[in-house]
Amino acid sequence: MTSSSLQSSPWWRDAVIYQVYPRSFADGDGDGIGDLPGITARLPRLAELGVDAVWLSPFYPSPQNDAGYDVSDYRDVEPLFGTLADADRMIADAHELGLRVVVDIVPNHTSSEHEWFRAALAAGPGSRERARYLFRDGRGEAGELPPNNWVSVFGGRAWTRVTEADGSPGQWYLHLFDATQPDLDWGNPEVHAEFEDVLRFWLDRGVDGFRIDVAHSMVKEPGLPDWSEDDRPMQGTAEISETRRPPMWDQEGVHDIYRRWREVVDSYDGDRMLVAEAWVTPYERLARYTRPDELHQAFNFDHCVAAWLPEAQREVISTSLAGSEAVGAPTTWVLSNHDVVRHASRLGYPPATRGLGGIGPRDEQPDRGLGLRRARAATLLMLSLPGSAYLWQGEELGLPEHTTLPDEVRQDPAWLRTGGEQVGRDGCRVPIPWEADAPSYGFGPGAASWLPQPPEWADLARDRQEGVEGSTLETYRAALRLRREHGLGRGALHWLEEHCGPTSLGLRNGDVTVLVAFDEPLPLPAGSRVLLASGPLDADGTVPSDTTVWLRTP
Ligand code: GLC
Repeated sequence: MTSSSLQSSPWWRDAVIYQVYPRSFADGDGDGIGDLPGITARLPRLAELGVDAVWLSPFYPSPQNDAGYDVSDYRDVEPLFGTLADADRMIADAHELGLRVVVDIVPNHTSSEHEWFRAALAAGPGSRERARYLFRDGRGEAGELPPNNWVSVFGGRAWTRVTEADGSPGQWYLHLFDATQPDLDWGNPEVHAEFEDVLRFWLDRGVDGFRIDVAHSMVKEPGLPDWSEDDRPMQGTAEISETRRPPMWDQEGVHDIYRRWREVVDSYDGDRMLVAEAWVTPYERLARYTRPDELHQAFNFDHCVAAWLPEAQREVISTSLAGSEAVGAPTTWVLSNHDVVRHASRLGYPPATRGLGGIGPRDEQPDRGLGLRRARAATLLMLSLPGSAYLWQGEELGLPEHTTLPDEVRQDPAWLRTGGEQVGRDGCRVPIPWEADAPSYGFGPGAASWLPQPPEWADLARDRQEGVEGSTLETYRAALRLRREHGLGRGALHWLEEHCGPTSLGLRNGDVTVLVAFDEPLPLPAGSRVLLASGPLDADGTVPSDTTVWLRTP
C-alpha cells in the first residue's frame, strides 16, 4: 500500500472498537442500571485508553426481557437509559473526542411489546399485521402441535401458541430466542422498508455504523422444514456447508438484504459501516457476508472459540486472514463480548476443555491467575494482528467472569428458559468497577448495581490500575498506542518458522516481531528490544510461559 492509499483507507479496516453494554458501564442517576448520561461522562476514559470507536448494545425502548435485545421501538431511547437528547449528546461528545459510534440493530425479531406484534395479535389469522411475523397454524388435529420441531437458542421450543381475540386457542408464532422476541418475516417487503428507515433514522443522527444482531438468521428456508433432532444447531455451533444447511441460519437470502443495506449506508458520507454478528462457520461462509457489496465486517467467532494452543491459534489466524483477503475485507478479531464467558476466565481452564457457555457456583472454578495471564497474552497476540479488533468493556481491567452469582439474581432468559441447565450470560455482564473505594466501585453514585459485584473487584478497579506500570489497563493502553504507531492493523503477517513450534508462535508484522510462549518459556532472540510484554519477563530476559512479547529485532 502506498502512503496515500493508507491515508484514504477507511477507518474501520483497522479500528479497535470498544463494546459498551449500557446497563453495566456507568450509572449516571444511581438506580443501579447504567445509562447514556453515565456513558457520556466516561467517554474521555475510552479516548484515553486509545480505542477508535465504541459500539453500544441496544438502548432502545424495551421490556428488557433479553437486556434490550427485545426492542419495542427502534426510534427512541429506553427511559431506563435516558432520552433521545441524551443519545444525541453522547454521539456528539464521542465525535468531539475523536471516537466513532456504532449502534446495535436487532432485525431478526422485535419485542412482543412492539406495536407491530400487538397489532398482529389483535388482527387475527391471515391479516396483513400477522404477515410481518412468522405465524403458522399448528400441526395435529386441532393445531395443538407446533408447526415444526425447531428449538429456541435459549431452550424450549421455538414456537408459542397464541389465544385469538375470541378466546380460542390459535396460531403459533416463531421465536428463535425468547417467547417475547417474535421473529419477523423477511419475506415481507414492509419489513425491509421499515428497517431501511430505521437505519436512516440513526444515520441521520450521526452514528458511524451498525452492529447487526444475529445477522445470519433473518431469512428462513421456505416451508420452515423440520430440522433433524441430532443436528439442531445452536447459535455458536452451527457448522454450515452446502450439503448441511440449517433452515434457520445462513440462508442465501440474507445476502440480498445486506446488499441493499450497503447501498443505504453508502449513500451517507463519512465511511459508515456495518458489522455482522453471524455465528457461521467455516470461515469461508462467514467471509461471504463481507463481500465488496455487502457488510464491512463480521465478528470472527472462530477466533473467539479457538483453543489457547499454538497450532489452534496459528490455524485460526491463517484461515481468517486468507478467508477475508479472498473477499477484500479485513478480519475482525474478538475474544470476549456480552454473550460469552470473559476470556480471563475461559482461559483459566486447561486448553480446549471449556466452551463459551456460562460458569456457575456449582461448576469447577477457573484458575484466576492463569486465566488472566493467558488473557493478557491472547490480547497482545490479537492486537498485533492486521485487521480490526473488538474489546469487551472491562477486559482492559482484566475482569474475570463473576462465576458465583447467586441463582436468584440471574436474569438471562437462557437461565430462566432452561430451568438453570444453561447458566447463561449474566456473569460477564456485571457492572464495571471504576473506583476501588466508592460504593458500587464507582459504577454509579450510590451502592446500587443491578448485578452484585464481587468484593475482589476492588483491586481491579480502574483507579487502582491507572498509572501502574504493568497493570492490565496500562498494558492495553500501551498496546493500542504501539499498534497505532507501528501501523499493525494495516500491516501484513509473516510467520517466523524458527519460533513456531509445539509450545510457541512467532510472527512479524511490519517492524514488530511478536513471540508467544505457550506452556514453556522462550528465550528472547539476541539483541532484541522489548516494546511491550503481556507480563513480567524473567530476570535473564526469558519470556515465561503464557506470555506474549512485542519486540524490535536487529
Ligand atoms: C445476539 C445478542 C444476544 C441476544 C440474541 C438475541 O446473539 O448478542 O445478546 O440475546 O442475539 O437477540
